[in-house]
Amino acid sequence: MDNFDVCIVGGGPAGYVSALKCAINGLSAAIIEKEKFGGTCLNRGCIPTKVIYSKAKYLSKLKNPEYGFSVDGFSVNYNDIIDYKEKVVSTLVGGVEKLLKARNVRVFNGTGKITGKNNDNSGFILTSTSEDGLKTEIYANNVIISTGSSPLMIPSFNIDHKNIMTSDEILKVREIPGSLIIIGAGVIGCEFANIFSEFGAGIKMIELLPSILSTEDKDISKFVQKNFKSRNIDIMTSVEVESIEPVEGNKGAAVYLKTGEKFTADKVLVSIGRKLNTDGLGLEELAVKMDKRGKIEVDSHNETAVKGIYACGDIINGPMLAHKASYDGIIAADNIAGIVKEKDYSVLPWSIYTNPPIGTVGLKEGDKGLEGLDYNVGRFSYAANGMALAMEESEGFLKVIVDKKSKRILGATGSGADIPELIAEITSYMHFGGTVFDIEATIHSHPTLSEIVPESALDSIGEAIHKVNPRTAKKN
Ligand code: NAI
Repeated sequence: MDNFDVCIVGGGPAGYVSALKCAINGLSAAIIEKEKFGGTCLNRGCIPTKVIYSKAKYLSKLKNPEYGFSVDGFSVNYNDIIDYKEKVVSTLVGGVEKLLKARNVRVFNGTGKITGKNNDNSGFILTSTSEDGLKTEIYANNVIISTGSSPLMIPSFNIDHKNIMTSDEILKVREIPGSLIIIGAGVIGCEFANIFSEFGAGIKMIELLPSILSTEDKDISKFVQKNFKSRNIDIMTSVEVESIEPVEGNKGAAVYLKTGEKFTADKVLVSIGRKLNTDGLGLEELAVKMDKRGKIEVDSHNETAVKGIYACGDIINGPMLAHKASYDGIIAADNIAGIVKEKDYSVLPWSIYTNPPIGTVGLKEGDKGLEGLDYNVGRFSYAANGMALAMEESEGFLKVIVDKKSKRILGATGSGADIPELIAEITSYMHFGGTVFDIEATIHSHPTLSEIVPESALDSIGEAIHKVNPRTAKKN
């Protein structure tokens, strides 16, 4: 039986990063993965969508060329784009495999399960079951569970993975559908609406709640809604779907609403959230605490109720984000190695890739965390930034939330070209407890989009330099 300091179950951004970090910390590590390394992010999420997103952006420029250009005819080969997407994915998956090998992490290709505790209670016994049923036993002093999440399915939605699909299958489609209905206008729904509308599909979005991207800042949600409407994306909000049925003869699918209305399309994408992959791992048997949805309870070290079993990524608290999952993995790996670290999600950035993209960090207006706090909001528009105009990317804005008294940055959100990079800068200030004056004291290269950061922050105290109608807020 193989014996390790740590065995990780699941090789996504939480699992493979924690395996590498365990090895860096001098621990012997094994990892069990049943599919390909990189998990949802690398194989069915962040990376493949960003390849197609980037091509959709290029297409948008071809369709709306910049000043001085006219494009007289071009053709799109979506099949080639999917080939390229697969190439990028396999390069990155290969990269993860090489990294694991270089750090001497033992890889087991199979489905992992904790089968029990060692007789002397000093560790755990796991099995890895390969596709052909071959079982390998693994012994480990510590276990990290990082099995991620999968698209949520509702029986009445009859997901057949052909014409009624989840995000997993739509990434494999090699022909742009003529029409696409998207159920759920959250992050996944909006990213795919942006991509497929650019490639010419007629899009209808059906959302249960009163607005799209309902967990984002209200200004962001309105901004994206306006952008989508200008591109003829049809959005229905506050609408409940009764059922979805395939149309006979492989002729698309029909969506039936509770109101009795019916809409048909070539394809339907169901993007209504994700379910947690925590079944069948042997966790209940060991009394690992989970809620009704299967979310695993962990402490600030990401250790579960069972000493020595850790959990990271989508299956614990916090948002379902790849970088949050990797952060979780590092917290677990360090604590296992005796480097005591408490996790803190208060300065957590995220991006949504619509065109223009969205970026956010920390608190945003409407968040519970701002209740009872006295704060100002600074705002600056891309239209007043020289580089944005030079790039013909003048659509967008950045909002910065600043504590009224201390002038510390509490959060920022916006939409505009390359905004995730601007948010990365603000994330650094926030990590170090930075104030508006720290941002002001930082010299920003000209001309860059990054100049939008000090302008928005300074607008919170009425001191933005390039704003004709600055806020009237005072320094104190
Ligand atoms: P989501 O929670 O973002 O959005 C689901 C939407 O579907 C919500 O607006 C919800 O109100 C709606 N909905 C739920 N049931 C419905 C029904 N029966 N009919 C109509 N609408 C319904 O979930 P989504 O988009 O599936 O994404 C899952 C997770 O993946 C997100 O939590 C996100 O964190 C992560 N993700 C992150 C990305 C990024 O960071 N760029 C990209 C894609 C996903």
